[in-house]
Parts: sequence; C-alpha cells; structure tokens
Amino acid sequence: MNTIVLYKSKYGSTKAYAEWIAEELDCEAKDSKGVKAEDLLGYDTIIYGGGLYAEIIAGASLITKNIEKLKGKKLIIYTTGITPLNVREYYDHEVLDKNIKPEIREYIKVFNFMGRMVLSELTAPHRAALKMLKKIMSGKENPTDLEKMLIELCDADGDFTDRAQIKELVEYAKM
Ligand SMILES: Cc1cc2nc3c(=O)[nH]c(=O)nc-3n(C[C@H](O)[C@H](O)[C@H](O)COP(=O)(O)O)c2cc1C
Repeated sequence: MNTIVLYKSKYGSTKAYAEWIAEELDCEAKDSKGVKAEDLLGYDTIIYGGGLYAEIIAGASLITKNIEKLKGKKLIIYTTGITPLNVREYYDHEVLDKNIKPEIREYIKVFNFMGRMVLSELTAPHRAALKMLKKIMSGKENPTDLEKMLIELCDADGDFTDRAQIKELVEYAKM
C-alpha cells in the first residue's frame, strides 16, 4: 500500500493528526504547501487533512479540484474543528455542501476530528474574523439551534485533539 498523508495546519492540530495517522500507517506525513496533483499520481491512498475555517476545509481543493486526475485512488479527507462531532447536521450538510460537490462525494471518504482553538494563540486577523462571524450570526432573526451553537463556539477555547479519534480512518485506509 502506497500511502501519503498531506495536511494544511495553522495552529498544529491538523498536523498532529497527520503525524499520528502516518505513524499508524507507516507512511509519510507532509505539509501540502507547494504539492500539486501531479505529485500524487504515484500513490494508491491519499489522505488529506485541513482545519475548518468559516466552514471551509483549508486547502482541500488540492483533492476536490483535481478529482479527475485522482479518482482511481482511495481518497480520504479529514477535517479538524471546534464543532462537537455529534452535530452531524453541521458536518454532513453544512461542511459537505460548502466543500465537496455532490457529484464527487462518492470518490472521497470524509472523517471529522476535534481540533484546537486556543484564543491566546490566535493571530489578530483570526481573532477579528471570529468576532465578525459572531456579530453576523448574532444579527440573525430567529436563529436555529445550530446557529445558536455556532455563535457560542466563536468563544471556544481549548485543545480538543485526541489521538483515539483516528481509529476509524486508519482502519478504512488499511482496508
Ligand atoms: C477564524 C477561525 C474560523 C474558524 N471556523 C471554524 C468553523 O467554521 N468550524 C469549526 O468547527 N471550527 C472552526 N474554527 C476552529 C478551527 O477549525 C480549529 O481550531 C482547527 O483545529 C484548526 O486547525 P489547525 O490547528 O490545524 O490550524 C475556526 C477557527 C478560526 C481561528
């Protein structure tokens, strides 16, 4: 099995998962910066990890925009974020709809992991972006329960990474 784990990680949690996965699968974990689809043609299994930023999976277009070149391979995308994993409406609808077009979903298996958002570590632009997101969402009339939860999550503060979460992904990659 010829496998690679690629990641884009600003604060380190997506990278930590990439390294844990690579250790389990005995393969390389690599920052996706500068990597092109052509560089991936020699792999049978490609695992891509990206943090969620305003519901966009950072850098995942490396896979989703190159599906024609990559679709014969086992493709896995994992996300890291601060939204609790049992909020399936968020991950299976909002996040998928924004990142992976319905017609290519059959080629990509997606996993979601808890990430890290430590407020004292955030860059000033990221702090400002969170403030802005909170303000926009708070201005909505009659917010849904999901929207109310997303407003609260703008103030989340902590490291929720957990190696145990990779188990299913690792099993799937080995299948
Ligand atoms: C500006 C900003 C926007 C974010 N947007 C989301 C989001 O839409 N959904 C989510 O679950 N987490 C969101 N997060 C939390 C990050 O996804 C989380 O911290 C992730 O683990 C970061 O990955 P990294 O440590 O690899 O950079 C956001 C964080 C920041 C700073």
